[in-house]
Amino acid sequence: MPDATDGEFASHPCAPRRSLGGKVPGLDAFLARAPTPIVRERGDAAASAGEDRTIVNEFAGLRRAANRELVEERVGGGTLDTGATVPAGVLEEMKDYYRARAGEYDEWFERRGRFDQGREANGRWFADAADAFAALDALAMTGDLLELAPGTGIWTERLLTTATSVTAVDASPEMIEINRARVDDERVDYVVADLFAWQPDRQYDGVCFGFWLSHVPAERLDPFFQMIAAALKPGGKLFFVDNGHRDQTSTAADQPLPTPETQVMTRRLNDGRTFQVVKNFYEPHLLTAVCAKVGLDVTVHQTPTYFLYGAGTRQG
Ligand SMILES: C[S@@+](CC[C@H](N)C(=O)[O-])C[C@H]1O[C@@H](n2cnc3c(N)ncnc32)[C@H](O)[C@@H]1O
Repeated sequence: MPDATDGEFASHPCAPRRSLGGKVPGLDAFLARAPTPIVRERGDAAASAGEDRTIVNEFAGLRRAANRELVEERVGGGTLDTGATVPAGVLEEMKDYYRARAGEYDEWFERRGRFDQGREANGRWFADAADAFAALDALAMTGDLLELAPGTGIWTERLLTTATSVTAVDASPEMIEINRARVDDERVDYVVADLFAWQPDRQYDGVCFGFWLSHVPAERLDPFFQMIAAALKPGGKLFFVDNGHRDQTSTAADQPLPTPETQVMTRRLNDGRTFQVVKNFYEPHLLTAVCAKVGLDVTVHQTPTYFLYGAGTRQG
């Protein structure tokens, strides 16, 4: 089987420009700085899909325990009652926050600086991230895709392994510039817009959003998914990934997560500035139900410690 980025296939207009394999951004750096046994066992080869699997396996025991707790904790609960509605000023402040944070954003995903939570928690993080990336890869989103809130391009890069084109809509020009430099790909059309006002003017073969859903206020969830359904062709694919557990190690110690009674939390930048943002931890079955109402057949999975991801299609 030839590599899709090599030879004759590479000249096809739909051919992926690069193959990321199972690579997870930040994993190499984590492995390089992690104390033994991870580094000793792995030697120099820190970038292959096989190593992503190794780290998954290493935490398999922890995962099984976490899964058992999850079933007890998550089945049954979950409503849209997350307290007071979010004032418009918080949505504006959230845009300002991400503009100011753009240059330090990847520290969060790559578990660096204030987001380095130690070997075990970081290991769980990268294992869970590998699961989410694998789920996106398995969905194989082809054709013209829409990515909402693409940020620095962690998921854009991945979408480009299968997409013909990506329309990437984000409110932050700073995020978009970092994304553009990272993916360096003419197939991406960047749009600077506010997603609480923006509406699609065409339909896409697929829609993807990473770590955006948790920033959508509960009272806006229904209209948000109506917009998603309108943006998808019948049979079009949907993928989203986000924080799926209220776990304090998912963020920095100096920014406590909100309680279930509130949708708003305070975020801090490295220079100490603080901003109010929306942060919700939606239940999988609630998301499945909201999607079903607008004709989206979506299955939502939780990874053991950190994430949830939804994958599905718009009904034909
Ligand atoms: C948590 S980041 C997610 C980035 C990327 N998808 C990822 O997974 O790393 C949230 C993104 O939403 C963008 N954003 C915040 N408020 C927005 C709004 N009202 N409209 C559009 N984008 C917004 C930010 O600029 C930022 O890029």
